[in-house]
Amino acid sequence: MDLFASAAQQRVRALREEIARHDHAYYVLDAPTIPDAEYDRLFRELQALEVEHPDLRTPDSPTQRVGGKPLAQFPPVRHRVPMLSIRTETDTEASGAQAFDARVRRELGLGEGDPDVEYAVELKFDGLAINLRYEHGVLVQAATRGDGETGEDVSSNVRTMRCVPLRLKGEAPEVIEIRGEVYMRRDDFEGLNRRQAEAGEKTFVNPRNAAAGSIRQLDPAIAAKRPLSFFAYGLGETVGWQMPATHGEVLDAIAAFGLPVCEHRRVVRGATGLADFHADIAGLRDSLPFDIDGVVYKVNSLELQRQLGFVTREPRWAVAHKYPAQEALTVLRGIEVQVGRTGALTPVARLEPVFVGGVTVTNATLHNQDEIDRKDVRIGDWVIVRRAGDVIPEVVAPVIERRQGDLPRFRLLEQFPTCPVCGSHVVRGEDEAVARCTGGLFCPAQRKQALLHFAGRRAMDIEGLGDKLVDQLVDAAIVKTPVDLYRLGVLALANLERMGEKSAQNLLAAIERSRSTTLARFIFALGIRNVGEATARDLARHFGSLDALLAADAEALQQVEDVGPIVARSIVEFFAEPHNREVIEQLRAAGVHWPEGAPAPAAGGALAGKTFVLTGTLPTLSRDEAKALIEAQGGKVAGSVSKKTTYVVAGAEAGSKLTKAQELGLDVLDEDGLRELLSKTDTNS
Ligand code: IVH
Repeated sequence: MDLFASAAQQRVRALREEIARHDHAYYVLDAPTIPDAEYDRLFRELQALEVEHPDLRTPDSPTQRVGGKPLAQFPPVRHRVPMLSIRTETDTEASGAQAFDARVRRELGLGEGDPDVEYAVELKFDGLAINLRYEHGVLVQAATRGDGETGEDVSSNVRTMRCVPLRLKGEAPEVIEIRGEVYMRRDDFEGLNRRQAEAGEKTFVNPRNAAAGSIRQLDPAIAAKRPLSFFAYGLGETVGWQMPATHGEVLDAIAAFGLPVCEHRRVVRGATGLADFHADIAGLRDSLPFDIDGVVYKVNSLELQRQLGFVTREPRWAVAHKYPAQEALTVLRGIEVQVGRTGALTPVARLEPVFVGGVTVTNATLHNQDEIDRKDVRIGDWVIVRRAGDVIPEVVAPVIERRQGDLPRFRLLEQFPTCPVCGSHVVRGEDEAVARCTGGLFCPAQRKQALLHFAGRRAMDIEGLGDKLVDQLVDAAIVKTPVDLYRLGVLALANLERMGEKSAQNLLAAIERSRSTTLARFIFALGIRNVGEATARDLARHFGSLDALLAADAEALQQVEDVGPIVARSIVEFFAEPHNREVIEQLRAAGVHWPEGAPAPAAGGALAGKTFVLTGTLPTLSRDEAKALIEAQGGKVAGSVSKKTTYVVAGAEAGSKLTKAQELGLDVLDEDGLRELLSKTDTNS
């Protein structure tokens, strides 16, 4: 081999080791060691070297994780050591643990005076069992359990899982088979289902089905996009390995080889140790990031395991001790809607009470109308209800086979044309999944949100009116709509928690100051959907007065630059709601005022018609200051670069916006350039 090739070979080896180390830190230890960009750079360097030197490409290279072609079917794999299942203790109380310990003691011939048996205790993961075969440290095969004797070769899919090392760390034996569970984290499951639904693909009922479906996916390129995880819990065949004396040490050794082993494991003694673990994990279950359906107890000594042996296909030395199920069947009695803080109407299932995930559930979310349609859930159906982790119970799916006759469908907009909380009218945008109450200023469900927004720094700027205070004011029914703020007295305020007379005076002064505002701030403060600060300012400039804005129809609104049909519709809907108009009139009557002018000419200011994008940090001007200067001369500041952008003003550490501007060949200014432009137009105008 020539010198040059061996240098490449050394670099390839170093890169693989480094990438494997980062994968282990990120996917196994959950403690990332380098920024993504740096990782990507290492990865690309390795890829380039392998393209240049194809003979250096090996199956344990991280570049070879996704590469397999779609399969027609999975080849069968005969397990060298059968994959057994464990007996399940269905008594979910502490007595379940005592029964197992008593059985083990009896089988071992232990009497009352003999010491406690030592157990390794761990979680029972809710996924599917996989056997990983490593020969001389390299992953050569991954197989499902199948019937325990013969499984399926799912190597190309398992290889895409970056928490599964392609090469073991440290001294590897000739052969070692590591067994464990492939599962999906709850957050990954929800993300996957969201993406599936958006793409119009089928969604999964629970994380276990999602994991099983993904592992049995014939196209490894699709499997690679499925967020799968793995925990090791045991061994299959081993050759040339010095087996430790206990199961606990086996797990330690597996972790040292670089595989994920769950941290929630212990070695305990006797029935009390088992029951304590069962109880501790029960308390933790909801906060775990993945589903478990119980815990597993294993006699720790491998010698005692051998003595105990098996009955049929189950070892006498292990048992799964269950928890109450997280899914249950019940009947959907009706559907009501709940109004959220932002006015979103969520359909809520009224259920025949059912015990699931440790509590009795009577309500569960149905998310939105599209979800109801997609799942075809109807009132009167038998449904699967799921309550896992801290998440709100949800209706997963109807059991169509149990449906009797023609059950009515739920139509949110027909059944709830008006908000069940405030009676304002309900709308749903064409491209939106969610239906909303339009009574933003008036609706009790949206009160807190609306008040906080109204008082915000960029809106009416009422200093000191934060969320804690809003909570108190609304909960005590002192404030219902923004108008009530202008009717507050010191007495009502001073009695609130953490509010002395001084702070009450300060708040009242801030409220008083806010009476005198600008039209733009006032429009923004109303909290109209899709109307941000910039749009509020455009509207104020264009219409000049509130009455002109109130009188505008969708067509007139779309004359305003940057107001399209969606924004126009939001504005029309908001002002069409009489409750909102009432609050606006009351605010004016309470003395909230601003200078009103004539509608601005379309081209006011020397920078009119010019759109700026600010990126990076300018040497002396803050972003708000630069924006104010540009807007003072009629220019517009937009958030993203497009063909419509006139100038990009770039400061230090400008990122992708600058790159995009260069790609589009736009004019790029620095702060000096901007100042020059401003001064020029100043004198010209
Ligand atoms: S040990 C001989 N440990 O439960 C014992 N299994 O019915 C073999 N499982 O197919 C299994 N968590 O998929 C073991 N900590 C754990 C487990 C576990 C989940 C699954 C596994 C197996 C089934 C047993």
